[in-house]
Amino acid sequence: MTPTAEPVQEAWNQYWSRYAAEYDEHQLARLARPGERETWARVWGSVLPAGTQTILDAGTGSGNMALLLAGEGYEVTGIDLAAGMLEQARAKAERHPHPPTFLVGDAVDPPFSPGSFDAIVSRYLLWTLRDAPAALERWHRALRPGGVLVAVDAPWFQTPEELPRQTARQQHFASAYDETAFARLPFGRAGTAQIRAEWEAAGFTDVRVDPLPEVLALDRAHGVAPGHEPELQYRFSARRAA
Ligand SMILES: C[S@@+](CC[C@H](N)C(=O)[O-])C[C@H]1O[C@@H](n2cnc3c(N)ncnc32)[C@H](O)[C@@H]1O
Repeated sequence: MTPTAEPVQEAWNQYWSRYAAEYDEHQLARLARPGERETWARVWGSVLPAGTQTILDAGTGSGNMALLLAGEGYEVTGIDLAAGMLEQARAKAERHPHPPTFLVGDAVDPPFSPGSFDAIVSRYLLWTLRDAPAALERWHRALRPGGVLVAVDAPWFQTPEELPRQTARQQHFASAYDETAFARLPFGRAGTAQIRAEWEAAGFTDVRVDPLPEVLALDRAHGVAPGHEPELQYRFSARRAA
């Protein structure tokens, strides 16, 4: 049983669970490329204030960013709703000297008391987040005053277009993320300005949107997953007022 019984969320959880091993294989290959780990450490580290200790990685997936941040010395908790993803994450955590804690949890309603974290991060979650305004309000509450929210994502699906259906995985993706599904995803087709406005509406201050040309350069140099094109990603960051 997952903590949410929303049928549409269940369909997405099944997709991410079923293809978790394939997803992780690709993410690990990416992380093995020269400069990749250092780049991601900088993407997060340059906006996490000195003194940051506790971090929640929402929609941690197979846990690679949580593991990277734990390797930098932070106390990291990763939550996800896809059991298959958490299985991949936990297997790697066993070999980690300072492992994150990986838990089943809904990013829309994280199971933590107010003020639990110095920072909340996420990568590639915003686009697939149902009920994003509620999630943002709850993230605001789960941060301690002065805590920071950081998310990396790209407008992958801003323009509705026919999704590829060549492989079983692509077919599963296209049916899990059909137009009815996208209608439930506030940021599924959103641009950066809309995301920034929602963060501000949820009470965050100092909202910034930074393009990540260094990630694009790595993707251009080394290639991306089959069926994808290198795309400029953005880092959103903001603060809960102290
Ligand atoms: C594209 S993957 C990104 C995984 C990981 N953050 C990374 O950077 O590799 C999106 C992840 O978000 C998770 N997810 C989507 N909605 C969620 C929710 N409401 N609560 C928790 N996890 C969620 C999915 O299960 C999936 O693992």
